Amino acid sequence: MTDGPPWWQEAVFYQIYPRSFADSDGDGVGDLAGIRAHLDNLVWLGVDALWLSPFYPSPMVDFGYDVSDYCDVDPLFGTLEDFDRLVADAHAAGLKVIIDWVPNHTSDRHPWFLDAASGRDSAHRSWYVWRDPAPDGGPPNNWVSAFDLSAPAWTYHERSGQWYLHLFEEGQPDLDWDEDEVVSAMHQVLRFWLDRGVDGFRADVIHCIGKDPALPDDPPDVAGIPHSALNDVPVTHQRLRDIRSLVDGYPGERVVVGEVYLLSTEAVATYYGDGDQLHLAFNFPPLYALWQAEAWRRCIDTTVGALDPRGAWPTWVLSNHDNPRHRTRYDRAAALLGEDAATTADRSEARARAAAVLLLTLRGTPFLYQGEELGLLDAVIPPERAVDPGGRDGCRAPVPWDGSADHGWPVPGGGGPWLPFPPDADGRNYGAQRLDPASILHLYRRLLGLRRDRPALRIGAFERLNTPDGVLGYQRTLDGRRCVVLVNFTDRPVTLVHGVPIPGPDHGRTALPSGLTVDLSSDGAGQGAPFGGTIGGDQALVLS
Ligand code: GLC
Ligand code: MG
Repeated sequence: MTDGPPWWQEAVFYQIYPRSFADSDGDGVGDLAGIRAHLDNLVWLGVDALWLSPFYPSPMVDFGYDVSDYCDVDPLFGTLEDFDRLVADAHAAGLKVIIDWVPNHTSDRHPWFLDAASGRDSAHRSWYVWRDPAPDGGPPNNWVSAFDLSAPAWTYHERSGQWYLHLFEEGQPDLDWDEDEVVSAMHQVLRFWLDRGVDGFRADVIHCIGKDPALPDDPPDVAGIPHSALNDVPVTHQRLRDIRSLVDGYPGERVVVGEVYLLSTEAVATYYGDGDQLHLAFNFPPLYALWQAEAWRRCIDTTVGALDPRGAWPTWVLSNHDNPRHRTRYDRAAALLGEDAATTADRSEARARAAAVLLLTLRGTPFLYQGEELGLLDAVIPPERAVDPGGRDGCRAPVPWDGSADHGWPVPGGGGPWLPFPPDADGRNYGAQRLDPASILHLYRRLLGLRRDRPALRIGAFERLNTPDGVLGYQRTLDGRRCVVLVNFTDRPVTLVHGVPIPGPDHGRTALPSGLTVDLSSDGAGQGAPFGGTIGGDQALVLS
């Protein structure tokens, strides 16, 4: 044990979606050995920890989030030995590794469910949520499943005459955590991987492991929203305390970051408990926020307001495997707001660069999603190549490693990888951008380096500055050292007045300090020079 904050407060996590990161065996699907072969790139980049999305045996209805064996590796991704080698190499390189744990539901091919479905008296029947039909013969309540909003969260099982619950796909039956044997089995899974040396877990839809036993209808005003985005019941908190003590019982500050997919930050905050539930929880409103100063100011103030009083440590994320990449989102929103295509083409990367500065300087643990460091856009998926039931293929496109025809994904016999590459892969790839110090990849690397040099950016106090419209400003301070961050969300240069309180939402309480030097700029301009008071359009600056 060291003094100071736990590693996961200072770390930058990097999410790997194994299918699309790197392929070692030429089958067009990424795998564990592929990840291992590319660790050097991540070490060069400077991230601290990896989160691996599921690699477990799975029928792949939900691309691995439908698990049929929690304690093995799908042959598509390799073997347990490959996993051990990956963790050993990552640890040797100074990288922590956390893995996805999917406790709310199994695959319908999991032996537990196969047995449960074999008859009402089967040993595992009570491990899942079965109910008799409603009086009209329909589903037991009005809950809606996640991907098809017209579909009930229930499937009728002819053979046993009952419905089973699935908050996601039909092939993902919900476990019943009211059954003690389920709890012990899922705890056993945690121990299996902790014993193998993982540094923690990303817990999939963890707020869903407790359900109101009466399974009441969702209120009419929210009926139509997937129940998985509404489920928020007290019993889950005790289950999280049990998980926390299990994980904290292991040496080395293991971590659980929970996907609490509730769109109220106040509600998410309760899943930290009093430091006795989740170590970290994802905060989703920033992942959907428009690229506008006011939207971000609100996200930040809400997060600080909800988490600080509990001593809960925030997380920040712009992109993941479930949503369009942020560069794509910002471009689409700009088009909807009337920006013409040529302007979007001009501003698109500049906005993504400014967003990187924001993500990596806010107070909290940032999560990068593979490929955002290249400034990737979503791939365009022709309808005949669409495979995901949730329409999320675009952000899951393979990472282009070089400018060759196959971008580092040679597939003997042709055919290419399982999804098309993102746009501009000839230039937006690791090989090309590593050679170009002006690339967005180098910007991410500089930001990660700056975080390492400036403890204030990692763990310093946070205070928002009073800045003109369209510009977001804050300072991070630690032991008398200060970093000021300015982000210009507009395409016009904005001049700030040193030392003079600017009338604004916080009544001029905090103004920009004077005598600042540009430590880093999102476009590389002016670095190392004194800050002259003007921030360029679409620019972000770190000053000290
Ligand atoms: C989480 C995952 C998503 C998956 C769902 C069901 O939201 O991030 O990819 O489809 O849970 O497991
Ligand atoms: Mg492969």
